[in-house]
Amino acid sequence: MSQSIQLQTQGRKRIPGMTQLLSKRPDMFSLGIWPGYYSKAKGAKVWDLDGREYLDMSIGGIGACVLGYADDEVDDAVTRAIRGGVACSLNCPEEVELADLLCDVHPWADMVRYARGGGEALSIAVRIARAHTGRDVAAFCGYHGWSDWYLSANLAEDSALDGHLIPGLAPSGVPRGLQGTCYPFRYNHPDELHAIVAKHGKQLAAIVMEPVRSEMPAPGFIEAVRQMADDTGAALIMDEVSSGFRYCLGGAHLVLHKVQPDMAVFSKALGNGYAIAAVIGKASVMQAAQKTFISSTNWTERVGPTAALACMKAYAQRNPHEKFARLGQRIKKSWVELGATHGFATHAEGMDAMPHFAFDEPDFLAFKAYFVQCMLEEGILASNLCYLMDAHTDADVDRYLAACSQAFSKLAEAKKAGDVLARLNGAPAVSGFKRLT
Ligand SMILES: Cc1ncc(COP(=O)(O)O)c(C=O)c1O
Repeated sequence: MSQSIQLQTQGRKRIPGMTQLLSKRPDMFSLGIWPGYYSKAKGAKVWDLDGREYLDMSIGGIGACVLGYADDEVDDAVTRAIRGGVACSLNCPEEVELADLLCDVHPWADMVRYARGGGEALSIAVRIARAHTGRDVAAFCGYHGWSDWYLSANLAEDSALDGHLIPGLAPSGVPRGLQGTCYPFRYNHPDELHAIVAKHGKQLAAIVMEPVRSEMPAPGFIEAVRQMADDTGAALIMDEVSSGFRYCLGGAHLVLHKVQPDMAVFSKALGNGYAIAAVIGKASVMQAAQKTFISSTNWTERVGPTAALACMKAYAQRNPHEKFARLGQRIKKSWVELGATHGFATHAEGMDAMPHFAFDEPDFLAFKAYFVQCMLEEGILASNLCYLMDAHTDADVDRYLAACSQAFSKLAEAKKAGDVLARLNGAPAVSGFKRLT
């Protein structure tokens, strides 16, 4: 058995769930064949523990590594910072420089607080909104991390988080006292937010949403959300953890709908794999951070802000979003065409930079695992989603789509023979939290 597969058994013994991130669990792809661990990553290439080289067309560090792995410019800046000491008794000046830059790029924002992960930064933003308004209730649309404020939505009604990227997230361990503090609405359904406002408007502290995810905003939707925030006095928080830097330098809200939020939250692309998150906001709201206690030792270290400064410089110079639009649209179109050629009714959606596909087959998860397997055989890490990086070239996409074409044809053979499960060398993929062991 290969080392990459073997270590997974030991990893599962020592680390509940094997990894700290649901999306990096091998069972999300195909347990038994997905390499799971890496020894080295550079550009768009990854090497597993057995020295096998892959072109990574899968989750791109789950959307964190927008430039590509081990980007030279970012790594050089970080290495210099490390040589100067990453932590001491004083603060690093990079965090002020980064705050200035983030506020320059988002002229509606005046102040910034930092964390190191997206979910924790969202918790900070919601805490600030609650401190600012003196109210408890949050309305949200989309996935916003693992924290209590968010999972409490499922205390009321088990299915409240369905349709928000990860269905069935269990709220075990979340205090029952939080029930009734968090309500979901769906993207492009202003009526659903309206119903929350009608019932809880006077207690509403925050409206939290991604500026875009699977679908583009319908005309007037974001404006209606802004209006409801204004009418109730709730803070509008744009979660740019995934969308940020994928449409322009900064938040997608800057170009997609131009509605100004009260706060916006960044992570992932802000550090290209280095841990950094930022909550930016209007001074009138952000000052409420002083009324509560938000403080943590490692939020002051130097690597994160240094990486973020280097990343923002690189985004300004390289404009990767132009490449993402071109390559992402090409990939979506090709998936649908391949599906049609091979008898699968394939839907492709998502931001151009992070497209995904599905097709209507009762055992889709077995087909997904077979797709993963066929792509691994071609030396490509792939799934039914493809997070693009600036390191991807047109030639990489040519190679990827040629392999997709072969894989779809094998999938079609399996469909015809009705034996997709028998063809799997690993396990079928799992879809969600509920089904993981
Ligand atoms: C929109 C959005 N918000 C929040 C998060 C949570 O971020 P993190 O995984 O860094 O905690 C994610 C992660 O996928 C996300 O996509």
